[in-house]
Amino acid sequence: MNSKKKLIAGNWKMNGSLAANEALLRAIIAGLGDAVCDVAVAVPAPYLAQVQSLTSGSAVSVASQDVSQHEAGAFTGEVSAGMLKDFGVRYALVGHSERRQYHGETDVVVAEKAQRALAAGVTPIVCVGETLQEREAGQTEVVVKRQLAAVIHLNGHCISEVVVAYEPVWAIGTGRTASPEQAQAVHAVLRAQLAAASEHADRIRLLYGGSMNAANAAQLLAQPDIDGGLVGGASLKAPDFLQIIAAAR
Ligand code: 13P
Repeated sequence: MNSKKKLIAGNWKMNGSLAANEALLRAIIAGLGDAVCDVAVAVPAPYLAQVQSLTSGSAVSVASQDVSQHEAGAFTGEVSAGMLKDFGVRYALVGHSERRQYHGETDVVVAEKAQRALAAGVTPIVCVGETLQEREAGQTEVVVKRQLAAVIHLNGHCISEVVVAYEPVWAIGTGRTASPEQAQAVHAVLRAQLAAASEHADRIRLLYGGSMNAANAAQLLAQPDIDGGLVGGASLKAPDFLQIIAAAR
């Protein structure tokens, strides 16, 4: 079974403002109590400094939603892992399906990003997940295994240093959550793949993401291979996010 601390990470996506972020974070921090799981918020890059300052001394870690695959240089618009580290960023989402879909991120690019993050001391949260079409074609396992395989052998780093998030694309922002059994089945496949690559596979946190909310979180988080959640919409409402955190105790 599962003895590691769960991780609940909110992904704000392209939402927020200075005022809204402050209100949200103050409410989350005030409601946290003695959270026994790890908590993070992945915020738009312009707000990293604000969020770093608002969360300092609290149990909430700062995450970025992306990281450049390049170290530095002429890459207009990109944010490097070193810059994220400068702002106290603990985790970086890598290969979110919206990045893969709208920004053409390939498995190779995702692996380069994960590598850059690790090199800078930022933990990548590598996102994998199949589309509805792929699920209906019976391709779920093949797709998620291919996506995970790309990051499983990172130069000089052990896969146990990353967090993996399974986010079925058809469940993202649709209100259509994977059932606990569906999610657990894929998590078990990922765990087995990790176990074949590392003796530390049991330490790796596998998060579920896709319409996780206050009502369904407890059942999902009770599955043996679900070690936390990556929460979109529900992370923008403090009471909902706090309920999900409470479900991860
Ligand atoms: P929703 O929780 O809004 O479905 O988003 C999930 C997600 O993409 C988190 O990264």
